[in-house]
Amino acid sequence: MAERRAERGLGWTGREFEVTVGPVAHGGHCVARHEGRVVFVRHGLPGERVVVRVTEDRHPGFCRADAVEVLDASPARVERPCPYSGPGRCGGCDWQHVDPAEQRRLKAAVVREQLARLAGLEDVEVAVEELPGGPLRWRSRARFAVDRSGAAGLRRHRSHDVVVLEDCPITVEPAAAAALQRRWPGAGAVDVSVDSTGAVTTTRLDRQGRPTSSRVVRPGGDLPEEPVGRAERHAGGRDWEVEGTGFWQVHPAAADALVEAVTAFAGVRPGETVLDLYAGAGLFGGALAPAAGREGRVVCVESDAGACAAADANLADLPQAEVWQGDVDAEGLAELLGDLGAPDVVVLDPPRAGAGRAVSALLAATGARAVVYVACDPAALARDVAVFRAAGYELSAVRGFDAFPMTAHVECVALLVPGSPSSV
Ligand SMILES: C[S@@+](CC[C@H](N)C(=O)[O-])C[C@H]1O[C@@H](n2cnc3c(N)ncnc32)[C@H](O)[C@@H]1O
Repeated sequence: MAERRAERGLGWTGREFEVTVGPVAHGGHCVARHEGRVVFVRHGLPGERVVVRVTEDRHPGFCRADAVEVLDASPARVERPCPYSGPGRCGGCDWQHVDPAEQRRLKAAVVREQLARLAGLEDVEVAVEELPGGPLRWRSRARFAVDRSGAAGLRRHRSHDVVVLEDCPITVEPAAAAALQRRWPGAGAVDVSVDSTGAVTTTRLDRQGRPTSSRVVRPGGDLPEEPVGRAERHAGGRDWEVEGTGFWQVHPAAADALVEAVTAFAGVRPGETVLDLYAGAGLFGGALAPAAGREGRVVCVESDAGACAAADANLADLPQAEVWQGDVDAEGLAELLGDLGAPDVVVLDPPRAGAGRAVSALLAATGARAVVYVACDPAALARDVAVFRAAGYELSAVRGFDAFPMTAHVECVALLVPGSPSSV
């Protein structure tokens, strides 16, 4: 009987026992051990003595558990500001029970650990920097799930269950109110975003995740439903227009912070050729173009047609900037490099999975004097850094930004340079 339960993945599920919580790991949990097995503990903190309840046991090597009782609390433990968070509740946040300064130290430890384990770099110096605005009400863009009754909320951790919310304290108030204080009958999810002017765009998605209708409410006005809303953003000293559903940093202070970091690491000089890969609406290309000057060339590459149209409009006043629509993959990049020649500087800001082995190897083969890698997943960053290192590049510096307070997510900006001794 016990064997059959284990085969169904239920072995320890539901069991409760005491553990001492060990180091933080990637993914919003800490590592503990019990009877020779690894236990990934959510809602705990390193050094704490807790009672855990096993929530999932599907792998021979480890199981997942929630700290359901704290016997010996860490000094960094705080009262959760969100009434919906906690064991078995909303899965949107990971670190509501942790002092924000400690959250940043935990995230820095994760970045260091990923670089050590996946890129072979020991003791990299990295700090995760606080962004202005505090740990709550920073999320200017969010997707909420909708349950069968039409009520919106977020999913329970590693579950399809929707926890219905009346508010989400990490989401900016007008966005939380627009999504959560009404019903969405028949919808599968709702996207909401608030731009720099205070305009709130809500987009209803069907159960397959396809947008079906969009509505923009501007301060002092109310436009009728339209297929896609436009959002206005301000960052890096410029105004930007993006599609309401298009990519933009979620934290209102993140785009500025990343532009500052990317600009400093890239150190673009007049006349240089710069590649801005996964360019979105052209944020980094637009920020770097003035330094390249009229003799320089800045090529922004982006696969999404809407983002390319936005980038074209956003960069229209910068004659040295070009927008190329296409996939950054081995084939597309080889073709682009064939046309363009070797760039002096590469900026890349890929989606969560990272650029991958083939793209990283091609970029390293260009010999660009600086590669500035913007990453929302330190594991993907570390895997790609390993490819650059194998091709002779060194990680010269890395900065972390707490662009997602209360969650385990962290944004990193890394500088890779060819052949120089590592300074990290
Ligand atoms: C993390 S966002 C970065 C956008 C931009 N750098 C910014 O900060 O606003 C990643 C972008 O890469 C685009 N993208 C995803 N996969 C791509 C691919 N294979 N080739 C080109 N662009 C891609 C997405 O459409 C998205 O705009």
